[in-house]
Amino acid sequence: MKRRTPQTVAPQSSESIQKLLLAHFAGNEPEFRAAAWDIIEEERRLNHTVLANELERILKSVNGTTPKMFFHALSTSDGNMPKDPDKNANLVEVTQPDVELDDVVLTPELSQSIERVIQERRSSELLRSHGMQPAGKLLLCGPPGCGKTMVASALANALYLPLATVRFDAVVSSYLGETAANLRKVFEFARLRPVLLFFDEFDAIGKHRTALDEHGELKRVVNSFLQMLDGFHSETLTVAATNHQGLLDPALWRRFDDILLFPNPTVEQIESLLCRCFHQVTVSKSVRLRSVARNMVGFSHADVERVAQDSIKRVLLDEREQVTPAVLNAAVERQEKRVEITDINSGVAVPRKARPRSSKKTS
Ligand SMILES: Nc1ncnc2c1ncn2[C@@H]1O[C@H](COP(=O)(O)OP(=O)(O)OP(=O)(O)O)[C@@H](O)[C@H]1O
Ligand SMILES: [Mg+2]
Repeated sequence: MKRRTPQTVAPQSSESIQKLLLAHFAGNEPEFRAAAWDIIEEERRLNHTVLANELERILKSVNGTTPKMFFHALSTSDGNMPKDPDKNANLVEVTQPDVELDDVVLTPELSQSIERVIQERRSSELLRSHGMQPAGKLLLCGPPGCGKTMVASALANALYLPLATVRFDAVVSSYLGETAANLRKVFEFARLRPVLLFFDEFDAIGKHRTALDEHGELKRVVNSFLQMLDGFHSETLTVAATNHQGLLDPALWRRFDDILLFPNPTVEQIESLLCRCFHQVTVSKSVRLRSVARNMVGFSHADVERVAQDSIKRVLLDEREQVTPAVLNAAVERQEKRVEITDINSGVAVPRKARPRSSKKTS
């Protein structure tokens, strides 16, 4: 009688199977799913693609959505995270945002584009069955403080995806060839499990020009990045954000399925944002928010929010009962000065927008 050769199980798989069983008996659904994803990932790494796809299909069919919970294991167990070998730092930071798309004030065009992306992602099976791919790569452009990071977070939340933000400080290495190798690890990480892979302040790679140019490496890094982006097809949604779109390599643009432009808010949007910010405080009847909003054209959403918060603080600290025109005007004026200083220091030659002087009455 032939003796059966014992099957060797990869150490990582056996660990995941143990975790799977323990999670099952403990009734811990998130841990169970996390372990199941580890096994799928391991099978995929071993090129057992059919098995990996089948396991993934089963896992998803259980509740019909992309698993939300396994982010927990990702963020708490360090073992799976891609790392820079030199700094031993994680190349991505995984979080699970709770910001909702309804919290974001958007232009109708932006809302429509975002809705389309969500719809395509939710109906990805249908699209794929017709040989089409859902939107997988987005570029978000626009001035600072207009909601790019907020939308990336809200998208992750809406799609039940963990948000994996790339840490450029860890990715960029002064060792020759290491930056491209780190980027490869980041893409590999995002290929093996569905996440929202977020290259926030994407132009940051350009900011590290000196570190990279020491070896004349910047061009090589940009080229490898383009190749990686091009060849990257997975369940992951890749989102890049920049407020320096002019600095981006023109070859990058066509790599994205959609480009979303985030402008500064209109008068109506400023008014709506002020209303939201003031929903828990009393605003004097003599404040006309529309006319205040007109004085704030050129501000970003973040600037508007700061004006509102500044006013609320004044009301609380001065023990007033309500936000008055004087309080609001003073906050607008302070923010204008702040914007001017920021513009000068960030090299903005022309003021963002010729605004009416805030000393004008805005009540
Ligand atoms: N469209 C918006 N609707 C509501 N609040 C907003 C919006 N945009 C920005 N904010 C407020 O401003 C803060 C900063 O916005 P966010 O970080 O998303 O800007 P950004 O476009 O990513 O800026 P940067 O280019 O500097 O990274 C948000 O946390 C939010 O409080
Ligand atoms: Mg941002």
